[in-house]
Amino acid sequence: MSQKPWDGRFSEKTDKGVEAFTSSIDVDKRLYAYDVEGSIAHCRMLARAGIISEAESAELVKGLRAILKEIEQGVFQFDDSLEDIHMHIEARLAQNLGRVAQKLHTARSRNDQVALDVRMYLRDETTVVTRLLLQLSKEIVTLAKSHLDMVMPGYTHLQRAQPVLLSHHLMAYYEMFFRDIERFQDCLKRINVMPLGSAALAGTTYPIDREYTAKLLNFPMVSVNSMDTVSDRDFILEFLACASICMVHFSRISEELVLWSSSEFGFVEIPDAFSTGSSIMPQKKNPDVPELVRGKTGRVFGNLMAMLTVMKGLPLAYNRDMQEDKAPLFDAVDTLKACIRIYIEMLPRLRFKKEAMFRATRTGYLNATDLADYLVGQGMSFRQAHGLVGKAVAYALSTGKELHDLSLAELKNFSSLIKKDIYQILATERMVDRRTSAGGTATVTVKKAIIRAEKHLSRVKDAI
Ligand code: ARG
Repeated sequence: MSQKPWDGRFSEKTDKGVEAFTSSIDVDKRLYAYDVEGSIAHCRMLARAGIISEAESAELVKGLRAILKEIEQGVFQFDDSLEDIHMHIEARLAQNLGRVAQKLHTARSRNDQVALDVRMYLRDETTVVTRLLLQLSKEIVTLAKSHLDMVMPGYTHLQRAQPVLLSHHLMAYYEMFFRDIERFQDCLKRINVMPLGSAALAGTTYPIDREYTAKLLNFPMVSVNSMDTVSDRDFILEFLACASICMVHFSRISEELVLWSSSEFGFVEIPDAFSTGSSIMPQKKNPDVPELVRGKTGRVFGNLMAMLTVMKGLPLAYNRDMQEDKAPLFDAVDTLKACIRIYIEMLPRLRFKKEAMFRATRTGYLNATDLADYLVGQGMSFRQAHGLVGKAVAYALSTGKELHDLSLAELKNFSSLIKKDIYQILATERMVDRRTSAGGTATVTVKKAIIRAEKHLSRVKDAI
């Protein structure tokens, strides 16, 4: 059995079952590079502050680098009895360097060490996620730009409501994902705080220089309160909340693609390479990618709930419960990145069906509001026009026609204000292009939104 760094006061060996139960190495080994980097910075700081000698620091740094190599080459031995990645690396250092290795942990505890590792990991991953979202947003804008000639029904209550540009609908998702980018960027500020030097919970008696460690590890600031620092997992909760909101957006666009690719809608064709068939029904082509993304949303929400529950009611400061933070965090990071990546691949390959979308705008009385607005333009109050058009819709329904199929004589029965020019007003393209209010669906307005989006994206690109 390996010697444990903390077993001085113990007279009995740890139960094997307990070792397996408390071990987190299978999960936290992915932090190894951050653990080594953090330890190297800690050594350098210790030497600079005169707590260990320069020679000792140099030896430790060399030893740590050798361990990094061993792990990267896959020759490093992992063992449940050593609990976590921090103890594995320290124990190996002791094997390789002997007594000097024992100096590494001066003025440090695993409590501030693990906080450091997770923060370093998460700031890197947050940057990766933000960059991926930026790429995704660009794909959406490109798609919107190249489909400005397509109109479709816009829906409320999943009932056809008013015609919109497909590009306008797509740009709605751009807005959501852009807010996600901003949210992750903001979250990064609270991740990017250096915890080392808080030690177990109360700080340390050694004359450490936390600012120097922060500088070496590229942190813009050090944490303030040692007790808060070792027990704070807000930055994880916040990341998971951002990830959950982002997954809501993915789930919504996925639901739309599932609907739109059905024969009931028939608005889009998902490429074969992104679909699967059925083992029994030869005709089937299923939208698996959007379905799975929609399904994976549950995992990410679950991870947020798990972490909120772990943290709720914990007394200050560190508690072992917090070791349970890594599995949900890693799973959320992996899931979110996988979803963004697959969408980046899939979006440009969607084939939208212009004719079917247009046809769908011509049935279901999507131009009723425009008829009412027309009457308002002739001096009628909107409420009166609304009632009158309601009657016209009821009449058209009873004859199995659309408003634009009614003859001028039939329309005039509802109001003498209606003239021949009404047919242009009731045309789909016209309905779309008259909605020039800021943020509306008119082609000119959507083009402006696209230009604005391109500007925002290039600004964000420079910032990450
Ligand atoms: N593996 C532990 C975790 O992830 C590291 C900190 C352990 N600290 C302790 N006092 N046992 O939280």
